[in-house]
Amino acid sequence: MPVLVVVGSQWGDEGKGKIIDLLTERADIVARYQGGHNAGHTVVVGKDEFILHLIPSGILHKGKQCVIGNGVVIDPAALIEEMDGLATRGINVDKNLLISKNAHLILPYHKALDVASETLKGNKKIGTTGRGIGPAYADKVSRRGIRMADLVDPAVFRAKLSENVGEANFLLGRFYNAPLVSGDQVFDEYMKYADRLRKHIVDTTLVLNQAIGKGKKVLAEGAQGTHLDVDHGTYPYVTSSNATAGGACTGLGIGPNRVTEIMGIVKAYTTRVGSGPFPTEQDNEVGKHLRDCGKEYGATTGRPRRCGWADTLVIRHAARVNGLTSVAITKLDVMDALDEIKICVGYEYQGTVYDEMPRSSPSWRDARRSISPCRDGNSPRSASSGMATCRKRRGTILRRSAN
Ligand code: IMP
Repeated sequence: MPVLVVVGSQWGDEGKGKIIDLLTERADIVARYQGGHNAGHTVVVGKDEFILHLIPSGILHKGKQCVIGNGVVIDPAALIEEMDGLATRGINVDKNLLISKNAHLILPYHKALDVASETLKGNKKIGTTGRGIGPAYADKVSRRGIRMADLVDPAVFRAKLSENVGEANFLLGRFYNAPLVSGDQVFDEYMKYADRLRKHIVDTTLVLNQAIGKGKKVLAEGAQGTHLDVDHGTYPYVTSSNATAGGACTGLGIGPNRVTEIMGIVKAYTTRVGSGPFPTEQDNEVGKHLRDCGKEYGATTGRPRRCGWADTLVIRHAARVNGLTSVAITKLDVMDALDEIKICVGYEYQGTVYDEMPRSSPSWRDARRSISPCRDGNSPRSASSGMATCRKRRGTILRRSAN
């Protein structure tokens, strides 16, 4: 610290929640910088399990300030449900939760458009969480998004809402043949949310920069993972925000020179939810073992996660684009029951072995068919030769310099 950014190095679900929970001991503020309630951080405290979607897991620690930054998209109903759920378990968020006035709202038509678009795509769908994340970010980038500051100003909210509902309903009705959304109903519903959330909504960039200026330690919490990043991931099979470390600066409003450490969380094997290339996927007994033993079911949607071996090409790309200064490896114990552990060190594509991820989307698109990551090996091999077979090792945090 002073500013430590924690990022997922694969396709999300690397166990960031647990590591962030451990690191929170050393932080004054925990700040979430992107994504929405598509994320799900599972944190186990003693015998209690908490699944958090929007609120940083720092909230489980007494006296830690938690921030939802401007880079996050917020469904207020989901946020309030999470706040209430914590309150019933004795965790009061009233004093410790700050929400950026510039964070964008997810509205019911975003969710409707997300679901309608996925339905229309059929077997070409992204496999989104159906939470309205993509359409909310699309509105943000199209400069018609509605922000938290607008929510607490009824006149502004009503004007923006009626403009947007008109356009969304045109698409929903005429293009997707889907049910329409009632602007009046949304207005009434969201005014209740505004009353509840008003006192939490502030200029979080001011709070964060003043705190950093006073020497306070900030833990910046990323959601999803590097390969779901809209710029650096396996596009188009990605989420709609910057999950990589750069997103912490734009998503919290802090300068890059404030960031002192960037930790990548790497799961000892790989998982992914939804569609898209996954060269080391094991659609077999190994995958089943990883899923069952690693409890690999989505914390948000409950979907079974696709599981496979660790992939060094994926992790190396993450080390590069994030500028990782350290790595924490999670879930090594899931490998305990396996006699042999494989790690991908190269892809074969049309007879050539590659030791970096393919650049072109056609080869990614065909990845499951055409990229064969592995020839089974009996002993560790050098890079670029397919799949290395390793003896099991234990370890947690490895340090490396960024390059
Ligand atoms: P969206 O973020 O709901 O638009 O979904 C886009 C893609 O990101 C889909 O493949 C989702 O399964 C994936 N995704 C979104 N959030 C998470 C997460 O927290 N963990 C793993 N995958 C996620």
